[in-house]
Order: sequence, then C-alpha cells, then structure tokens
Amino acid sequence: MIRPTVVAGNWKMHGSRDSARTLARAIVQGVEDDASREVLLCPPFVHLFDVLEETVQSPVQVGAQNVGDQPEGAYTGEVSVAMLAELGCSHVIIGHSERRHVYGEPDELIGRKFALLHQSAQQDLPNAPRAILCVGETLEEREAGRTLDVIHRQLQPVRSFPDAFPRALIAYEPVWAIGTGVAATPDMAQEVHAAIRAHLEQELGAAAQDTVVLYGGSVKAGNASELFAMPDIDGGLIGGASLKADEFLAICQAMRK
Ligand code: 13P
Repeated sequence: MIRPTVVAGNWKMHGSRDSARTLARAIVQGVEDDASREVLLCPPFVHLFDVLEETVQSPVQVGAQNVGDQPEGAYTGEVSVAMLAELGCSHVIIGHSERRHVYGEPDELIGRKFALLHQSAQQDLPNAPRAILCVGETLEEREAGRTLDVIHRQLQPVRSFPDAFPRALIAYEPVWAIGTGVAATPDMAQEVHAAIRAHLEQELGAAAQDTVVLYGGSVKAGNASELFAMPDIDGGLIGGASLKADEFLAICQAMRK
C-alpha cells in the first residue's frame, strides 16, 4: 500500500453557516477526484451538518476539530465520538496546539480521546472518525533543544495503541509556525517528520510506511509544493489559508501524486 496524501482545512472558530456552505461549495467544485489525494474540511461543530450536505457525493471528506474523552453522559459542552460518527465525520483532530496551550489540555486527556476513538472503531463503531493526532514543540522548547523529546512524549498513543495505525494520522505542527506566517523550512520540517517516521517504524513496523504524517503551520499556496515534496511529509493541515477557496485549492494541487 502506498500511503495517500491528504490536505485538511482546519477552519478553527471562523465563519457563519452561510460562509461555511459557500466555501465548501467552492472547494467541491474545484477539487479533483483522485483517491490517492484526499481533501478534508474541518469546520466548527455547528457548521458540520451544512458542510456535510454541501460535500455529499463529492470526494471531499468532513471532519471535526475536537471530540470528548467519554462515550456519553453528563459532560456539558462536549461532543461524543458516536455523535460525530452518526453525522458522517470521517476524521477528528485531537491534541491541536490551541487545545493544548490555550485550553490547557494535557497529554492524558488527549490520550483518552485517542483511546476512545480507537476502541470505538474496533468495537461498536466501525465508522468512528479517524484520529488526526497533533504534535509539536513551542519556540522555547525548540530553542532548548527539546523538540524531539516533546514530540516523543506527545506520541504516547503510538506506543499505547500501535494497532490504531495506519487508520490514525499524525500532524506535526510546530507551535511557533501556527498562524505566524513563518512556516518551518522544508528541511526543518522533514527532519522532524523523519524522526516521527523512525519512531513509528520502531513501534509499528511495516504500518509506519502506511501512516500519514501531515505538516501544519503557515502552509500557503506559495510554500506548499516544496514542503509536500519532502519524502516524509504526506500533505498538510491548513489553518488560515484554508478559509479562501482559491488558496486552499492551490494547496490541494500541490499534493504529491
Ligand atoms: P495556520 O495555517 O493558520 O498557521 O494554522 C495551522 C493550524 O493550526 C492547522 O491546524
């Protein structure tokens, strides 16, 4: 199996129902139907249904930006794996740096979300969304030479649930590159991606080659091709540039074949 390339738009907390539909429609119209190059949109929870309607019968997949760590119950404000699966979400982002650093989500909580997604898919919900597990160091951690230590720690789900891969994906998003306009250089990103791949190889064996590892952090139409040309970068998780259809479609065009 040759792993696919994936471009995912993380719309974060932007837009209205109307603008979400308009953006999704423009992307559906512009996207190529190529099973080896996947396109995924992750709107806010309350726009999921609208975006799912716009993308029905198109190759564009729809995912959520977060999920609760419990199957159901008295958890005000949370959304469950089963709810996302019922709606038709193919993926869910977990451990995004904004969840970790703005809302203080610890590794243990992200680990429980990962475990629940994996166990749901294995047991009662074969269509549970696939996890996109985000990892990445802060500038302070990079400058202290701790990048790989931090990423290794954040990759605990790989060691706890090796059989969750290659269904689950990983996204390397250096915190200092998110929303700053300063992307990692292709060489810098490839260095970390190669280290992630080596860790996957050690823990998963052959499944490491089938596991998709995305890069995120200030990806734009102008730098996507050189990032995606790197051997261990299998596409991107795109923030700001995913909110403009033309820019996002240009990034999709830059995917490796
Ligand atoms: P930007 O592309 O805006 O830097 O955001 C990246 C990101 O956080 C995607 O999840």
